[in-house]
Amino acid sequence: MNDAIRLGPQSPLQATGLPQVSVVVPTFNERDNVTVLYRRLAATLEGIPWEVVFVDDNSPDGTWEVVRGLAQQDSRVRCIRRIGRRGLSGACIEGILAASAPYAAVIDADLQHDESQLPKMVALLQSGEAELVVGSRYIEGGSADSFNKQRAGASVFATEIARRVLQVEIKDPMSGFFMIRRDLFEQLAPQLSTQGFKILLDIVATAKGKLRTVEIPYTFGSRQHGESKLDSMVALDFLGLVLAKFTGDVLSLRFLMFGMVGALGLIVHLVTLFIALEVFRAPFPEAQATGALVAMTSNFILNNFLTYRDQRLKGFAILRGLLLFYLVCSVGLFANVGVAFSVYDQEPIWWLAGAAGALMGVVWNYAMSGLFVWRKR
Ligand code: GDD
Ligand code: MN
Repeated sequence: MNDAIRLGPQSPLQATGLPQVSVVVPTFNERDNVTVLYRRLAATLEGIPWEVVFVDDNSPDGTWEVVRGLAQQDSRVRCIRRIGRRGLSGACIEGILAASAPYAAVIDADLQHDESQLPKMVALLQSGEAELVVGSRYIEGGSADSFNKQRAGASVFATEIARRVLQVEIKDPMSGFFMIRRDLFEQLAPQLSTQGFKILLDIVATAKGKLRTVEIPYTFGSRQHGESKLDSMVALDFLGLVLAKFTGDVLSLRFLMFGMVGALGLIVHLVTLFIALEVFRAPFPEAQATGALVAMTSNFILNNFLTYRDQRLKGFAILRGLLLFYLVCSVGLFANVGVAFSVYDQEPIWWLAGAAGALMGVVWNYAMSGLFVWRKR
C-alpha cells in the first residue's frame, strides 16, 4: 500500500461494511424508475456489501431529487448531479471513477436490464474466472424480444460491424449491462470516449482482447415508465466510435464529426454560390461571401446539434457561440490560404496545396471551436 494512504494502527476508520460492488446507474428523466430499482438492488444484493451511484445529467423531471431523497435514508446510495453535460458513456465513466468497490457494474435505470444477474456477475469476478462479465442478449438463454423489428435489425447489424471491423469477440458488445474489475477499468479509462452510448464496446475495443470476458444471458425487458433516449443520432455516434478505434484513436469521434460537417459545409457553400449567381444574378464577390456566411451558419447549427450535442448551446448562448464561430472560421480561412500558398510555392500541385490548406483550416477550426465556442463547463 502507498504511504500516502496508510492509515496507521490508531486509525479511527473501520474497514467494515466496505462495498464489494458499486452499481453505477446513468439516469436521464427516470424519476419513476429509480426507487423501484433501488428496492430491487437491495433485495437481490442482500448478503453482498454494495453501493449504488446514480449519475444524473440534471434531469428536467428532477430524477436527482428523488435519488437525493433515497441517499438521505440509505448511505449506500449516492448521486452525482452533472450540470451542462449530457451523454450515457461519460456518465458511466464518471460513476465508475467515483466508486471504490473492487467491482463496478453498469445497469440502466429503467428496469430493462435484469438486476437479478448481479450476484452471479460478482461471483464470476470473485472467482477470477472473469475480469469482465457482460449481460448478453445474443447468447443461448438471452433475448431482446421487446425490441421492435427496426431496432432489432439495427442492433444486430451494428453488432456485426463492430465484431468484424474491431475484431471484438463477444456476442453482445452493444450491451449496456456489465460488471468489470474496477482496477482494470481505471487503467483503460483515460482512453475511453465520453461521447456516445457504446461504453462496453469502447472498453472491449480499447482493451484489445486482454480482458478475460464471460457473457451471461439475460432478457432485455420492456420499459415501464419514461422513454428511450436513444435516437437516430446514436448511429452516428456508433460510426464515429468504430472509426476512432479503427484508426487507433488517432482520429477522435468529435473530430470526425466536425470534419463530416465541414465537408457538408462545402456543398452548402457551392449550392448557395450557384443560386446567388444564377438565380439572383449577384456579382461574384457578394455571391461568394453569401456562400461562406450560409455555410458557416449551417456548420454551426449542425455542430451544435451533432458534434457537440452533449454540450449543446441553448438560448442566448447560441448567438454568442455563432458570432465566435464566425470569428474562428474567418481566422481559419487565413490559415487555410496561408498554408496552401506556401505549399504551392514549394510544389506547384494545385490539389496538394488545396488539400493541405483545407486540412489546416479544419484542424484550426476544430481546435479553436473546442476552446472558445463549445467550451467545457
Ligand atoms: N446520465 C445520463 N445522461 N443518462 C442517460 C443519458 C444521458 O445523456 N441518456 C440515457 N441515459 C440513461 C437512461 O436514463 C437509462 O437509465 C439508460 O441510460 C439507458 O438509456 P435508454 O434511453 O433507456 O436506452 P435504451 O433502453 O434504448 O438502450 C439501452 O440498452 C441497450 C441494450 O442493453 C442502453 O443501455 C444501450 O446502450 C444498450 O445497447
Ligand atoms: Mn432503456
